[in-house]
Amino acid sequence: MKHIIYLVAAALTIAAIATSCCKNNENTQNTQNNNAADQTFSTIMNRKSVRSYTSDTIPAEMMDKMLHAAVAAPSGMDVRPWHIVVMTDKSQYDTLFAGNFNMDKFKQAGAVVIFCADTTVTRPPRENPDAPAVTKPNLTWRDDMGAATENFLLAAEALGLGAVWTACYPYGDRMDPIAKFLNLPGNVVPYSVVPVGFPAGDEQPKDKWDAGRIHYNRW
Ligand SMILES: Cc1cc2nc3c(=O)[nH]c(=O)nc-3n(C[C@H](O)[C@H](O)[C@H](O)COP(=O)(O)O)c2cc1C
Repeated sequence: MKHIIYLVAAALTIAAIATSCCKNNENTQNTQNNNAADQTFSTIMNRKSVRSYTSDTIPAEMMDKMLHAAVAAPSGMDVRPWHIVVMTDKSQYDTLFAGNFNMDKFKQAGAVVIFCADTTVTRPPRENPDAPAVTKPNLTWRDDMGAATENFLLAAEALGLGAVWTACYPYGDRMDPIAKFLNLPGNVVPYSVVPVGFPAGDEQPKDKWDAGRIHYNRW
């Protein structure tokens, strides 16, 4: 009888330890998830346009991370229309910004990243995936490029860098010199130009919350 009581007690102890371990693991997991969510939220809320930079070079690993973030963006039908040109040769910045950019501010940028879009898509027709590929206009490239540009900006913020989205498309006076300078094919347009570097100033994020802009269930 004694033995049975010992055995039951031992089994209950093991079960209690196992449950507590699981709970601890669950709690650790929850804490990690919460921390990751907090970090993501804080990166999004802290992002701001940064237009002045120190002359420091951007480490290659940082650029690599930002580029990976950019191309992780969603795109219509997963077409991924982006081609990204990373300029680090400051002697070329003037030529690059020959259009109507307010270039002086960006002269120190460690890099200027030009997000270009292939405005066409070459695929078999949707209704007949086995047919030969055809080239058609890509109707969502603008949206896709916006998502990629924003991902890049968020990655810059997460890394402690500063960047600003400067419009290229749809302004012909900005697009033309860049398309010429980069010798872009006719179906590729320069969409956005993002100077990036280590922040020299103290730009702060803006509070843009306006409850009046949020509508639930109806306008
Ligand atoms: C499509 C687009 C085009 C922009 N073009 C320029 C630009 O040409 N030059 C510039 O200095 N900032 C430009 N900006 C940055 C905006 O001025 C900036 O996002 C806005 O003032 C809000 O400030 P924040 O980015 O600090 O939140 C552009 C932003 C977007 C989204």
